[in-house]
Amino acid sequence: MVNIAIFASGNGTNAERLIQFFSDSTIVKIKLIITNNDQSGIVNVANRYKKNLQIISKNTLNTYADQFIDFLITEKVDLIVLAGFLLKIPQKLVTAFPKKIINIHPSLLPKFGGKGMYGINVHKAVIESKEHETGITIHYVNEEYDKGEVILQEKCKVDSFDNPDTLSDKVKRLEHYFLPLAIEKIVSKQI
Ligand code: GRF
Repeated sequence: MVNIAIFASGNGTNAERLIQFFSDSTIVKIKLIITNNDQSGIVNVANRYKKNLQIISKNTLNTYADQFIDFLITEKVDLIVLAGFLLKIPQKLVTAFPKKIINIHPSLLPKFGGKGMYGINVHKAVIESKEHETGITIHYVNEEYDKGEVILQEKCKVDSFDNPDTLSDKVKRLEHYFLPLAIEKIVSKQI
């Protein structure tokens, strides 16, 4: 069994999708949910599906990275999925989980990545730049924001009538469809 920890700071729709997709899986278990935001939708998702939820502050993540890594190891976490996690992952964690941390980003990286490029900011920037297409990138996490090796990219059209909200919906649909499939592929290589 491959144990997954999902790190999320927002609504948690991707986390919910993963929990549902892998609910009957014999190879993947969503073991833990980690958030830095106890007011976010992800807390409700974790409670609704009775998942072990841990709330961690930015300070704790950075100051007690070793203890946090020990905790993840004790919980037998094999893969970390960042699904809208807004804190930077400390180098120690990246080193402790080489090629075992993946992130989903709502644009076609390297376009519209980097600091400040999250959530609706990404879709606003795509519209302002008059792009004809956008999409999602699933990639490994290294020490630089949004710069790890790309695992998968999927595109969608930006129509003339699109605004940041409609674009966000289109991109979310891609995320919900492809993130579980990408994880399935990664995991089947690991087994
Ligand atoms: C997603 O758009 C993901 O690409 C980005 O954060 C968002 C999380 O959305 N990294 P949700 O909380 O899963 O709805």
